[in-house]
Amino acid sequence: MAHIQLNRPKELNALNLELMGELRDALKQLDADDQVRAIVLSGNEKAFAAGADIKQMAGKTAIDMYNIDQFSTWDTIKKIKKPIIAAVSGFALGGGCELTMLCDMIVASETARFGQPEIKLGVIPGAGGTQRLTRAVGKALAMEMVLTGRFITAQEAHQAGLINRIVPTELFLSEAIKLAAEVAAMSPIAIKMAKEAVLKAFDSTLEEGLHFERKNFYLLFASDDQKEGMQAFMEKRTPDFKGR
Ligand code: HXC
Repeated sequence: MAHIQLNRPKELNALNLELMGELRDALKQLDADDQVRAIVLSGNEKAFAAGADIKQMAGKTAIDMYNIDQFSTWDTIKKIKKPIIAAVSGFALGGGCELTMLCDMIVASETARFGQPEIKLGVIPGAGGTQRLTRAVGKALAMEMVLTGRFITAQEAHQAGLINRIVPTELFLSEAIKLAAEVAAMSPIAIKMAKEAVLKAFDSTLEEGLHFERKNFYLLFASDDQKEGMQAFMEKRTPDFKGR
């Protein structure tokens, strides 16, 4: 299990290009490290991240934005195979909310606030806020959040299915780590294929998704972990998964 903390506290972890580049590099490194089976991504108690860095973006032209191509970083993060659990307290706004949705599960503190306030800046979400949010919470709430910029509470986010659980603020990180440890005890190869298959549901038809799931299911019978998992069940012991 590894933990990455976004660390620009004075700016409420506003996601500037440097931070996003460092985050991408850290995630790629952890994805390649056999010792790591799950990743926790957090901010601090006051903010997960208050969005893209408005001060860095404000003076840019459309051509600057095109040339900077910041979303290639997001595309790389999307391809991380290991599960990423967002530990969220305080603000998760704009790109910060979108970053939590790029993660695989979200553990939130009672004080977490999720929002897509880009509309108040004269723009719209650019990293999935109109797409992943709508798939997660449905049209009514997504439309309201995107058109008014209203922040929703952890409670609303939980009711709407955006997050996995709400925990007391002082526990937001430790509970996320606990969840990551639970995942990390499973077969790492099965976990990666499971993540891949669940994500497939978002950009395929049901038939294609079922086909993909079935192929991954069959493929796992080529792993030592499948033999170990089923053997351990029959021997009534805890499996020792190796990720092969
Ligand atoms: C740059 C930011 C920032 C941001 C906060 N800060 N959010 N700087 N970009 N997104 C800075 C403030 O300027 C201030 O620094 C310091 O952090 C503390 O913020 P305050 O506003 O003083 O705190 P508070 O009054 O508690 O209000 C918190 C807040 C507010 C409600 C979160 O800061 C806010 O509305 N922030 C912007 C949220 C937002 O619009 N996000 C979407 C961004 S666009 P100084 O030095 O000035 O005191 C986006 C597009 C995504 O994300 C596209 C894909 C990447």
